[in-house]
Amino acid sequence: MPSFILTDSQQQALLTTARLAQRKAYAPYSNYPVGAAVLDEQGRIHAGCNVENAAYPEGLCAEAAALSAMVLAGGRQARAVLVVGRGDGGSWITPCGGCRQKLREFGAPDLIVQSANELELGPRHTLAQLLPESFGPGHLKAR
Ligand code: THU
Repeated sequence: MPSFILTDSQQQALLTTARLAQRKAYAPYSNYPVGAAVLDEQGRIHAGCNVENAAYPEGLCAEAAALSAMVLAGGRQARAVLVVGRGDGGSWITPCGGCRQKLREFGAPDLIVQSANELELGPRHTLAQLLPESFGPGHLKAR
């Protein structure tokens, strides 16, 4: 499947938005602030940050928050997501398993998942690479 083309200016806008979001993160327990920015089917960008909780499992990931903002704004398709977190080299941030599944709900296999930190861009993956053989809405329609 041909990959969605993300322009340089779209990538730059995602990066700026995600870095600003990272600075708003509430991560007093992990001390690992994360920012995410999602590009929707209308070309709009939605931001999210992680929001932790004293009851640790109740924390919210940045990607989930950004998807929630997209849905609230009426977006239904994610074309690209850029995630900013500390780390580089062997420790570039990528969405956790739960967030990969959440992205699957609103993203095609060619959804771009771009990693970054505060200083530079990291690797780029597609959702299909991060979540192969995934379960999605289509499975519920199968008989
Ligand atoms: N986190 C995210 O928000 N997104 C990711 O892609 C990875 C992890 C958050 C969850 C938790 O608040 C903190 O980072 C450490 O796991």
